[in-house]
Amino acid sequence: MLITPLDPTELSSTVVVITGGWSRERDRALLSGRTVAGALDEMGVKTRVIDLSEPREDLLDSLVEAERAFLAIAGRGAEDGRLQGLLETLGVPYTGSGVLASAIGMNKIHAKTVVSAAGIRVPVGTRIEPRALPDDEAARISSMLELPVILKPISEGGSIGIQLATSGESLASALFHVADEELMAEAFHPGRTLSIGVLEDRAGLLHALPPLEAVTPNGIYSYAAKRGTADCAYHCPARVSAITLDDLKSQAVAAHRTLHCHSYSRHDFIVDNDGLAWWLEVNTLPGLSKSGNFARMAQADGIPYELLLTHILRGADIDRRARP
Ligand SMILES: Nc1ncnc2c1ncn2[C@@H]1O[C@H](COP(=O)(O)OP(=O)(O)O)[C@@H](O)[C@H]1O
Ligand SMILES: [Mg+2]
Repeated sequence: MLITPLDPTELSSTVVVITGGWSRERDRALLSGRTVAGALDEMGVKTRVIDLSEPREDLLDSLVEAERAFLAIAGRGAEDGRLQGLLETLGVPYTGSGVLASAIGMNKIHAKTVVSAAGIRVPVGTRIEPRALPDDEAARISSMLELPVILKPISEGGSIGIQLATSGESLASALFHVADEELMAEAFHPGRTLSIGVLEDRAGLLHALPPLEAVTPNGIYSYAAKRGTADCAYHCPARVSAITLDDLKSQAVAAHRTLHCHSYSRHDFIVDNDGLAWWLEVNTLPGLSKSGNFARMAQADGIPYELLLTHILRGADIDRRARP
């Protein structure tokens, strides 16, 4: 994989690290923002950290002056293409995927439609009709999908709001209590939770990093497990057969390409008890803290954290339209 360190001429421009924001993933974003800015500072890159939730005038002043933006942020308003659109309009180069991949990637239903058209295996699911009565909707879902089903927000990350419904009653009751959120129901595939990073190298070639497995007592990689407040063990590289590994890598690379992701992305899968990999979602701005999943995968591939960050930073200068 062709990844080279920064050279001194690249250190002169000021990099604005955009973090925080107002999504429900704000905490995780701030953690990435702090570690990214700290590591870039230590390498001699001039950084300025800004919080997307700053007052509008301050935010615009900081963005207009920025020579490059490093996006260490996640969730709605930031990972969904809105921030990318603003930066495109202001002419500020930024890290990660562009508007299209970000917007589609943030919507789990649209993302699955796009990747499944490219032959990637995805669980069947349906959008919850917000105006339908919970009992009617529970009956419709139960006739379409075998129980249990996973209920999850269409445009949220970090396992926020994920629920498992094992019976028609628990499904109706869950629907009754979350009436104001855009939700989807999806076939539950018991199995192992794996995530796999994709990195585009300097030659424009896509590489899948070694997958990471998150092992939790009930098999669901929950909000608490992600925050470190519930039991969770990590294995990277994940212990999977050579066939499953090939399957995961080729599906992750195909999903990155099909969604028009740029520079890097992380794909979440379930590997079921038959070893089949089911693509769940893309994270177009995966967390980048030093101990986070993406950094772990890079490390397992021999790419140290600092090199990973400089490579991602350099991706800001590559024209997204020139890439597959
Ligand atoms: N269809 C499914 N079958 C089994 N487990 C699932 C399914 N969908 C989600 N999960 C579990 O929930 C976790 C979070 O789901 P995911 O779709 O990645 O959403 P988020 O954006 O919140 O991370 C997954 O890593 C997995 O452990
Ligand atoms: Mg996920």
